[in-house]
Amino acid sequence: MRRAPLLVVAACAGAILCGSAVTHAQAPQGPGVRPRAPSEHGDPEGWRFTIPAGDAARGRAVFEKFECYKCHEVKAQKFPAPSQRDALGPELSAMGGHHSAGFLAESIVNPSAFIDKKSGYASRDGVSKMPSFNDAMTVQELIDVVAFLKGLAPARAPASGGHHH
Ligand code: HEC
Repeated sequence: MRRAPLLVVAACAGAILCGSAVTHAQAPQGPGVRPRAPSEHGDPEGWRFTIPAGDAARGRAVFEKFECYKCHEVKAQKFPAPSQRDALGPELSAMGGHHSAGFLAESIVNPSAFIDKKSGYASRDGVSKMPSFNDAMTVQELIDVVAFLKGLAPARAPASGGHHH
């Protein structure tokens, strides 16, 4: 049975989950996998929540599906005009240039986390007038609608190398 150890190695080489054999040998790799700081406890140094890249075209459909336009104008987009006059939110076409994707995602999953107090966006109890979509919106829909909003405005700091169409 001289061949047995070789077979184990071959079986492990192609598999992502190979038990303890690779636990310390190699970190997981692939899209969305970020290198880990060596710390065993707590968040890796400098860690912060980031949202994966989404599909802006699908995000536009999400914006329509949840009728976000009832409260948000989006310049240069042909959505129905805002109609919910008692709970209007800000015009959103420039938001992607001002905010990170993580900030936009948080303002959707937790609208009250940060509210511009002066603009009448909060009810008298301090809660955002924006409703929660958390029971209805999938995580993928959230990712895509954030990509849609991010894609509307160029980032403030121009990326080196520019962009192509
Ligand atoms: C009933 C009205 C209403 C609806 C519907 C609504 N929003 Fe809002 N939204 C608001 C209000 C009011 C604010 C400002 C207060 C706040 O930040 O929560 C806001 C804030 C936001 C912000 C943060 C803007 C900033 O600069 O802080 C984003 C992003 C946003 N909404 C996206 C959405 C998306 C995406 C949808 C649909 C899934 C949606 N909204 C649906 C009322 C609404």
